[in-house]
Amino acid sequence: MTMTLPRILAIETSCDDTSVATLEGFQVRSNVVYTQVLHEQYGGVVPELASRAHMEALVPTVDSALKKAGWALKVVDAVAVTQGPGLLGSLLVGHSYAKSLALSLGAPLLNVHHMEAHMLAHFLVEPGIQETAIPGFPYLCLTVSGGHTQLVVVHDWNRFEVLGETQDDAVGEAFDKAAKLLSLSYPGGPVIDRLAQSGKPLFTFAQPQMPALTFSYSGLKTSVMRSMQARVKEVPASLTDELSDWCASIQVALVQPLLEGLQAASLQTGITRIALAGGVSANSHLRQSCQTLASELGWDLYLPPFSYTTDNAAMVGAAGYFAFQHQRYGSMSSAAKAKMHD
Ligand code: KG4
Ligand code: ZN
Repeated sequence: MTMTLPRILAIETSCDDTSVATLEGFQVRSNVVYTQVLHEQYGGVVPELASRAHMEALVPTVDSALKKAGWALKVVDAVAVTQGPGLLGSLLVGHSYAKSLALSLGAPLLNVHHMEAHMLAHFLVEPGIQETAIPGFPYLCLTVSGGHTQLVVVHDWNRFEVLGETQDDAVGEAFDKAAKLLSLSYPGGPVIDRLAQSGKPLFTFAQPQMPALTFSYSGLKTSVMRSMQARVKEVPASLTDELSDWCASIQVALVQPLLEGLQAASLQTGITRIALAGGVSANSHLRQSCQTLASELGWDLYLPPFSYTTDNAAMVGAAGYFAFQHQRYGSMSSAAKAKMHD
């Protein structure tokens, strides 16, 4: 006898990616991500343009996700959607659409916290892509994105304990700002990662002294800028001729505090199931360094497949499926929220 799993349509519109996924339980049937490239020319996300672009892209993205899965809309059992945190205008587009869809289908609405979705992406199963083990609770998750840098104990699907976080900029933001100093395109993280492959970390920067399990990235930009100014006096074409070395140096400087934080958090909690989540968890230096640490320290390491590191709707479906199993349905009067504290 085969068990029928609920068919979930998941929607993510918290920032500049319009994404829709279809899942049966944790099994991903399709995961379509439409990235709004229009922001590149502005060097960052322009909120008004993002919400307008979501409005244009959402329906075609839903159609494409359904088509890839071979589903008709009427087979959908539940609609999962990012409720927040994120850009309010962008969230509103996805959330209002999800509410009306759930209403018209008579299906439950599953409200999802964007960062929790990043952390629960480890439960996704996609034959051929993720057949790796899934973590058991509790696990320690380093959540690193454009807006967050946190060490979190994931006690259960709905119980997250933040042990420490950045006191100012997020590490993804620091990657993007550093890339801007080097006149690289937005988002800068993947570009720095790629260029760093052929460089050496020759340059060093002052690292702030921070209390245990906390991070600070706002000063690093100034420190990088000072090093650049000093170097350009000696080697005027340094920023182009030594570009890959700058990228490698910046990458090492940004990743180092994360590795120290993870080790300290694991030591403090005694948890050795370690997971990475969020856009910056795509970073190759971070992934490799964690693999080295894992073999040295006996960690069970869970690295998300690349397609589930940056924003995607499949992870929203994973969080939604947990909520579905526990019948935590969202009310039709629930609203999108830029911040999720209250
Ligand atoms: O999770 P995400 O897609 O969106 C947010 O919720 O913020 O993360 C985006 C961030 C950007 O700052 C981007 O530069 C960074 O993730 N990022 C990377 C890499 N890929 C994406 N940073 C470093 N190395 C990468 N390979
Ligand atoms: Zn994200």
